[in-house]
Parts: sequence; C-alpha cells; structure tokens
Amino acid sequence: MSTRRILVTSALPYANGPLHLGHVIEAVQTDIWCRFQRMRGNDCIYVCAEDCHGTPIMIRARQDGIEPEALIRASALEHQRDYAGFAIAFDHFHSTHSEENRHYSYELYEALKKRGVITRRSVRQLYDEQAGMFLPDRFVRGTCPRCGTPDQYGDSCEKCGATYSPADLKDAVSTVTGTTPVLRDSDHLFFKLGEFEGDLREWLASHGLQPAVRAKLDEWFEAGLKDWDISRDAPYFGFEIPDAPGKYFYVWFDAPVGYIGSFAALAAKRGLDFDAYWKAGATTELHHFIGKDISYFHTLFWPAVLHGAGYRRPTGVHVHGFLTVEGQKMSKSRGTNITARQYLDLLPADHLRYYFAAKLGIGLDDIDLNLEDFAARVNSDVVGKLVNIASRCAPFIEKAGGSLGAQLPDPALYAQFTAAAGPIAALIEARDYASAMREIMLLADRANQYVDQQKPWVMAKDPARFVEAGAVATQAINLFRVLMTYLSPVLPGIAARAAEWLGTDAFARWDGVQTPLLARPLGKYPQLASRVDPAVVKQLVATPPVAATASPDSPNPGKPVISIDDFTRLDLRAAKVLEATRVEGSDKLLQLRLDLGSEQRNVFSGISASYRPEDLVGRYVVMIANLAPRKMRFGVSEGMVLCASGGKDGGTDGVFLLSADAGVTPGMRIS
Ligand code: 2FM
Ligand code: ZN
Repeated sequence: MSTRRILVTSALPYANGPLHLGHVIEAVQTDIWCRFQRMRGNDCIYVCAEDCHGTPIMIRARQDGIEPEALIRASALEHQRDYAGFAIAFDHFHSTHSEENRHYSYELYEALKKRGVITRRSVRQLYDEQAGMFLPDRFVRGTCPRCGTPDQYGDSCEKCGATYSPADLKDAVSTVTGTTPVLRDSDHLFFKLGEFEGDLREWLASHGLQPAVRAKLDEWFEAGLKDWDISRDAPYFGFEIPDAPGKYFYVWFDAPVGYIGSFAALAAKRGLDFDAYWKAGATTELHHFIGKDISYFHTLFWPAVLHGAGYRRPTGVHVHGFLTVEGQKMSKSRGTNITARQYLDLLPADHLRYYFAAKLGIGLDDIDLNLEDFAARVNSDVVGKLVNIASRCAPFIEKAGGSLGAQLPDPALYAQFTAAAGPIAALIEARDYASAMREIMLLADRANQYVDQQKPWVMAKDPARFVEAGAVATQAINLFRVLMTYLSPVLPGIAARAAEWLGTDAFARWDGVQTPLLARPLGKYPQLASRVDPAVVKQLVATPPVAATASPDSPNPGKPVISIDDFTRLDLRAAKVLEATRVEGSDKLLQLRLDLGSEQRNVFSGISASYRPEDLVGRYVVMIANLAPRKMRFGVSEGMVLCASGGKDGGTDGVFLLSADAGVTPGMRIS
C-alpha cells in the first residue's frame, strides 16, 4: 500500500474560555485517528490553532482589563497545556491572530472578489450608542416576540424555540452597557454562496459524508443557499478588510482559514510543499473533525470558499454529536460543565480516552459521559481485561529467567488475534471506534480464557515446570502485545509504559503484530494502569470547577520562583460575599457563600479570628477561582479567598482580606 499524505484538523477552540470535555472528546477522536494513520505508515499531519477573533473575545478582554492579545496568549498556553494533558499529539498548534492567517484570509478574499462572488449591501442592525458598536445577536436580550418570555437572547427563545432577528425582540437591551439599542444601517460584504450550489452538490456526491450530515445538507439546499455576511464593523477584534477600512472579517471567515495558516507555519518549519496540500488538484487528503453545531460552516461555506478561491476541498468532514454528562447538556450550575483541567487533576487521561473511544461511533447522536458507567467500563475493560493479561503473566516470565520463550505454544490462537488486524483497522479508519473497542475486548476475553485454562500459577508451584509456565506467559503476553498495538492510538500512556517493559518497538507499527516477540529479555514489569475509584469519579461533578481554603497559618518561606506562565494559570476573580457563617467544630474557619457572577461558590476560609461573619456580608474579596475542589471535614471548599497576614508566627492575628477595589462586579477577572 502506498503512503497516504493526510492533513487532519479538529475545530479551533475559542480563546475566551477553558477547554471542557466537549473539546476533549473531539480532540481524542481526531488524535486516535492520526496516531492510527501514523502506525499504518501513512504520513499524517495534525494541526490546530487558537480561534482568536470576534466580539465575545474583544468584550471579554475589556472586562478583564487587558488587551485581547494578552487574553489570547494566556488562553493558548492554557489550551495547549490541557491538550497535552490528554496526550493530543498535534504537529502544530497555531493562532488565527497570526501573520500566516492574515495572509491567507486576504488571499482567499481577493480570489473570491476577483471571481465576482463578493457583494456589498446595507444591513440594518441593533447598535449600542453608548458602547459605539453594533451588537451581535448574543449581546442583546429581551422579550420573545412570539411567546412573551422575558430575558431571551437576540436570536432565539429558549422557552418556545422561536428564531428571530434581534430587531424583533421586545424591550431589547444591550448586554454590553445595559442601554436600549437603536437600529442603524451599515454596509456589509457578502459571499454569494448560492453561486456554488452545483459545485457543492457535486462535491457532496463524491465524498462519503455521514448519512445524517447528508440529510441536513439536503434540508439546507431545499431551504435555498443564502448569501453569507462575512464582514463586521469596527470596533471588532480581527483582520481589517483590505479594501474596506473600518470593516473586519467576521470571525467565521478567518477561523477555518486558520487551518491553512497553521499548516503554513508548519510547512515553513518542515519545508513541506504547501500547494500539494492546499491548491486545487492536490492529491493529499484533508480531513476535518468537528461537532454537529458547526457543520453548516464546514460542509457549505468552507468548501465553497475553498473552491471559489482555487483551493482544494476537504476529503472528509467528520461530524460527532454533543457530549452530555449524566444524560444532560453540560451545565455550569449543575457542576457538569467539566473542564479538561478538572478531569486531569483527578484522573488519568487514558481512562477517558478509552471511554470516549468505546462510545464514539459514526452517528451524530450525543455521547453521554455517565460517571458510574465510566468507572465500571474502565475498570472492567482496561484494567480487568487488558492489563490483567499482562499483570497476571509477568511473574512467570521472571521465574522462567526473565525472557520470553523462543516459540509460541499456540500459534493458531496467535493467528486468530493477528487476523483481526485488518478488520479492526477498517473500523478505526471508518471512525467506528466503538465497534473496534468491542472487537478488541472480545479478544481480551479470549486471552484471559487461555490463561485460565492453562493455569500457569499451578505450573509455577513446581520449579520443574517454570519453563512450561513461562511458555504460557509468552503466549499470553504476545496476545496482550497484539491487543495493546490495536489500542495504542487510544491509550498512548499505557502503551508507553508497556513499551518500557516489552521494548520500544513493541507497538510502533500496526503490522508489527505479524512477528511475535520471542526470546526477548523483558524490562521490569511496570504498573500499567490502576483501577478507578468511583468516589473520585463522583468528584468530577460534585462541585463547580474549583476549591481549597485560605490557610493563613501556613508560613511560606523560601517558595520556589515561579514564571509568569505559572502566574497566569491563576484565575483571580472578584467575588461578593453573600453569606458568612461560623463553622461548628472549628475555631478558625468561616463558611462563605460567594457570588462569582455566573455562579456561586462555597468556600471555607480560616479568618474567623479576624473577622466577624456579619461584617463580611456584601464585601468584595479576591478569590482564586480555578483551584481543584478540596474535601474538608466540614464540606467541600470550592475556592480560596486571598489574604495577607500580619500576624506573628503566621498566626491569624491581623489577617487582611485582599479586597477588590470599588467598581468591580462579581466574577470580574483580577490581574
Ligand atoms: O465553534 C467553535 O468553537 C469555533 N471556535 C470553531 C472554529 S473551527 C474552524 F472553523 F476554525
Ligand atoms: Zn418564545
């Protein structure tokens, strides 16, 4: 088989919030596919980037009192750290606020203009006179024009599902300033999507999109392809349009161009042939992994823009459903909006990678993270079936002299395992990971049955039979090695530890399983994976993303120097004290209920010697909002209130709360 050259992307995360498990499932889905391709000997490049532009990011930076550039830098660092925590092996992670992206956004725009598919016309929109800006739909709230429910977004009603234009809302209010917006006209630039209907239909017919995606597209064709508004007026954080001063590319115009920009940066570093990946007629493959909410952008706008500008179109757009937690949409107030970091602070990445793989099929159905099922599935499959084969047999190799035997006692059984290489590869290639995991676990059952039948532990009681027990172990460890090879794109952490034991080449290539590992000395058997404690799993949703208590009595002389990056990892927020009560059984702690704007937190703080609870209510304090939750004797503490201590010996005398200045609002970022 000749080597395929494949470029793969997953959706670019916005630079105004942490990664949550919804981002993680997509990155894991993509990363498994890329790792698999590389093991198959294909040349597979995986790029991503920070999605930096747009009004929400501009406003968020303003609220935080920083430049958008500072916000996107901090966010990109945090995102990359969290992706790395989940072993997402990008070849390159770039930024849409980059020179490469500006260059290609302009190039595509110019090409489209030249082709005559950009048009200009006036649009009437809500305008916030105080802020001096046009308001995106999500920045307007008001009463639903259909059912009369108050406080609805500018584009749709959560109660009755109506969709409308923000100008139709009753009692519209700008969420930027709280003032009543007015209607104002302004010229916008549009991309004439309708011109590409024929090309799109032809592209769709020749590409294997999922049936549900295809059905959606048919609906959109039926409804008619409308011109797409690609410009926004200043003030806007983005790229100014070259021939339209004061107008900027809408974030969704330059975001997918970020795929090109990221690749271009990598191509410059590695000396790759840009045109071979991006220009019309390219023979390389281009695959986008996305969630179903953004398929319109990726299956209509994006291929049309690419085609219109003389670029190649995607080989595949692979769409997944939403992640739900305990059967419900992720929600901050229910504590189910689990961030990547919260998970990583509690549990190993491989466990969740496996669970997601076991649930990811080719459909668009939502994928549920059920916590009990997660613990049970990981303990049963990864630990109880897979790792068990290795852990129960490793001691017999040690007893037999530390090396695998020179031959397999049951080559027919081994052949059954390697015969699955093709079918399992086909399933992973088709992104039907759930079926692949099922096949692999059936084989794991078969391997364990073999060990059960052979009973090497009985043989190992008699030194005369050590070699016999070693032979059984050689067979079983080779079966384990085959399964671990199939699973190594899913479980890179466990595979890396197993490779220290079996040899670095053990899982490097998919077809490596055709040659069993024989007469090879083994390293020390490592702990490959440990069982998941369901009580720890519960902590994922037990509390909102935070915790710990102020500890004024822990002196901190000589703490190590930290970098600015360490500092920017702290999420410092202004919080308003809603309630303060003494904690029974503790003479140090006060229990505080804090308002963070978007949510409330319960925090235990060791300041009772210095403050009367009633004096604290209504005050603003500074809190660390992104500490891991901490279980205390009195309850769970969901954050830390910052104090300065003037007391002797680090005592609680003279503890000064760091108090936010006047003018703050709950949740405002402090820096
Ligand atoms: O929906 C989102 O989160 C977007 N930031 C995804 C962009 S993907 C690509 F088109 F840039
Ligand atoms: Zn309504």
